[in-house]
Amino acid sequence: MREFKMYICIIFICIANSLAANVRVDPLVDTKLGLIRGLRADDGDYSMFLGIPYATVRHDNPFADALPHEPFGDVFEAYNDSAVCPQAERLADGIVGTLDCLRLNIFVPNSANSHNRVPVLFYIHGGAFSGGSSQRAEFGPKYLVRHDIILITINYRLGPYGFMCLDNPEVTGNQGLKDQFLALKWVQENIAQFGGDSRKISIFGESAGAMSVDFHIHSSREKIFRSAILDSGNSLVATFSEPDKNAPLKLAQYLGLETDDMDDAISFLANSDTNSVILASVALNFDFKPCVEQEFDNVDRFVTQNWINATLPKIRNTPILIGFNSQEELMQNTYHDNVIRDKLAITFDVDDEAFDGMEEIVRHFYIGDEPITEQVRWDILNFHSDFKFNHPTIRTVRKYVENGASEVYQFLFSYVGERNLAFQSDIIKEEAAHGDELAYLFDMSAIPNPTAEDQLVIDRMTTLWTNFVKYSDPTPELTDLITTKWTPITEGSSQNYLEISSELSAKTRPYSSRMTFWYLFYKINHRLQRVYPGNNIVV
Ligand SMILES: *[C@@H]1O[C@H](CO)[C@@H](O)[C@H](O)[C@H]1NC(C)=O
Ligand SMILES: *[C@@H]1O[C@H](CO)[C@@H](O)[C@H](O)[C@H]1NC(C)=O
Repeated sequence: MREFKMYICIIFICIANSLAANVRVDPLVDTKLGLIRGLRADDGDYSMFLGIPYATVRHDNPFADALPHEPFGDVFEAYNDSAVCPQAERLADGIVGTLDCLRLNIFVPNSANSHNRVPVLFYIHGGAFSGGSSQRAEFGPKYLVRHDIILITINYRLGPYGFMCLDNPEVTGNQGLKDQFLALKWVQENIAQFGGDSRKISIFGESAGAMSVDFHIHSSREKIFRSAILDSGNSLVATFSEPDKNAPLKLAQYLGLETDDMDDAISFLANSDTNSVILASVALNFDFKPCVEQEFDNVDRFVTQNWINATLPKIRNTPILIGFNSQEELMQNTYHDNVIRDKLAITFDVDDEAFDGMEEIVRHFYIGDEPITEQVRWDILNFHSDFKFNHPTIRTVRKYVENGASEVYQFLFSYVGERNLAFQSDIIKEEAAHGDELAYLFDMSAIPNPTAEDQLVIDRMTTLWTNFVKYSDPTPELTDLITTKWTPITEGSSQNYLEISSELSAKTRPYSSRMTFWYLFYKINHRLQRVYPGNNIVV
């Protein structure tokens, strides 16, 4: 009780001060780990607690599971959100980051306190499991926290540090997902002190963040969230491959150590600077991703079985909000002759003779008898988007409903405004690309202030998403802003979805004929799906 009183007191002093003398007193919160001092925002009625360390990477083995953070000796000044985990920068050639990166940011609306605990939105950023961060410049909270929810954004380890997957009890794989879990656990244990309701946590991710959310749903660990939001990503997205169990040997060799001893290689890499390890993994074209972990005594794994056909006990009674954008692969420009086969090979055993003729069927479906050139650009884009994201999302929805999710709210985001990334980068301004919805949920410093039309979309999106966090229903009531009821998919219902464009429209079956094509394609080729690790699916 003491800490709650203290918190209220301090907020109260703050308000009194700012009204009376315009003196700023920074908010102070007493957590189980000690006092944390934050900052008052200057772009809204909320406080920010930046860069709180929630876990520690082991110095002797930074590829192993992290440890929960020790209590703070002194007041922790949560003022700095600039730590990012080691990675190659997406837009430049540089390598950035430090292993002291397992930090989270908490954004608390002024309405939250011990008498009015508010729901919590826990956001996991995307970046292909090798890039990205929680920085406020990219994921600014001001549009979300005005709806009286707490927003949390987190960092987790990436690339070789987060997703090396070995036959080694210290590095079984998915370290980055386990980091996310430690962050979630931290939030569960401490968020009440900030005025948050630990029983109402929604986990939310985009792209690799949404794939992560799906792995949290699959994991057999404690369920810390009440509901989940997946934007443009899930574990069925066509992007996984067989993990390279010899990765440390190859990285060490690249950096100058010839060895076939795994422990030597790991300890050599642990002592190499992070920039060279990232450089080596980029140079060797490694693609570290979540994997099924090998079983060892006394090792608490996170992903224990292949997810393609896994059962999902945790999804029972869990509300889900999930969807994709109208042209996910808009920024993708691949026209070479084998593009269809190359993509199909990610998911299917294309060399099995039972697959003969399948590539041609896909080709004819999308482009008829045309050669693959710029002329059929849009058709090839449709193939890319359908194969990589759209149909995997439809299959995930089906999987969730079959496993007893309480209701699944599906969306298709097709709005094109000045905040779309494709618009920003001046490429094409006709459809919504991967990631385009994010700038209508978050304030991004690289994007100028919204136009009136964009602001309307921001208001709608943030209302829908935060209603879901609060009520597990994005449209509990219709208003002047939200004029359309969003009907969920439930067992036996139609495949309902909400299209989010300049207007909101209730529809059923997005891209119906294309999705039906893939439904049949998967049904026919079910046995030829690749399962990692190992061979084809046996059911
Ligand atoms: C914030 O953190 C970064 C590294 O994470 C550090 O380089 C920088 O000096 C810090 N800034 C301040 C003001 O402490
Ligand atoms: C999923 O497939 C794997 C690999 O073929 C198999 O071992 C496992 O039993 C299957 N699990 C379920 C739940 O069908």
